Amino acid sequence: MKRIGVLTSGGDSPGMNACLRAVVRSGRQFGLEVFGIHRGYRGLIHNEIEEMRSHSVSNIIQRGGTILRSARSEKFRTAEGRKTARQNLKAQGIEGVIAIGGDGTYSGADVFTREFPEINFIGCPGTIDNDLYGTDYTIGFDTALNTAIEAIDKIRDTADSHEYLFFIEVMGRDAGFIAIEAGLASGAEGILVPETKTDIEKLIATLDRGAKYNKSSSIVIVAEGDEEGGALEIAKKVREKFDHYRTRVLILGHLQRGGSPTCFDRVLASRMGVAAVEGIIAGKRNVAVGLQNSQVNFTPFGEATKNKKDINHDLIRINEILTR
Ligand code: F6P
Repeated sequence: MKRIGVLTSGGDSPGMNACLRAVVRSGRQFGLEVFGIHRGYRGLIHNEIEEMRSHSVSNIIQRGGTILRSARSEKFRTAEGRKTARQNLKAQGIEGVIAIGGDGTYSGADVFTREFPEINFIGCPGTIDNDLYGTDYTIGFDTALNTAIEAIDKIRDTADSHEYLFFIEVMGRDAGFIAIEAGLASGAEGILVPETKTDIEKLIATLDRGAKYNKSSSIVIVAEGDEEGGALEIAKKVREKFDHYRTRVLILGHLQRGGSPTCFDRVLASRMGVAAVEGIIAGKRNVAVGLQNSQVNFTPFGEATKNKKDINHDLIRINEILTR
């Protein structure tokens, strides 16, 4: 293999640039020509492909977002779209693609490589959600957590001063990884995640107990995918039955996706980018890079997309002990 492509796809995450830098620089040092594909799979279909050199990725290790830009492509879900993408890769002589992204990126790569086995895809887990099977951490998760707890700490100051009950909604799509860790790290009185059944009565009992112990404020972290609804809906359900505090709601939203990556994410992204290139050179095919027990590993796309990674339920128990 002489030429590889690299793209970032799906929701951007801090550290994608660091991963891109690692792919471009290691690829070139190992004798490959590296082509950047702009706007993910959409750019692959529209032939937005250009060669990248070492200097193309200068000064980006510390930058959030992705200099390649990102997109979610409906067209790549169609056989016709994928056929066009295949033709564009062929025209450029690209035989392998490193795709930095989340679940949708992996599913796209899985379908594509089944249709066109002559093209090799290697995935790098780039998403703030940390919901990818086969890796303990995804690139961007740590930064998103730190952004979230910084915001929650600030909310605590004002919540305490005014004796508010705050419901703070965090991202994570249909997983609760951000909610559970941000909740534990900020001493939230309640953490609601889609992986456990949300019991509004139990939550009210917890908040009521806190009020009786003279807690001046309470914070409930709600994962956006919780089955009882988002923060607004849950706040409404609680308010109907519990009015000790005045209630406020904050949806952290896309703030969690931006910002300069933490040291952890930069190191993770650099290791994974180099591992992806080394994997492609060593003949690994259609696998996603991961990090488990501090060691780099590879999981076939089929396995990574079929299996669901679970949260650490013990963190909820620990939080309940610590916030009583
Ligand atoms: O997957 C990353 C993520 O930020 C999720 O946490 C969130 O549900 C989704 O993307 C939001 O995506 P969009 O950019 O389309 O609003």
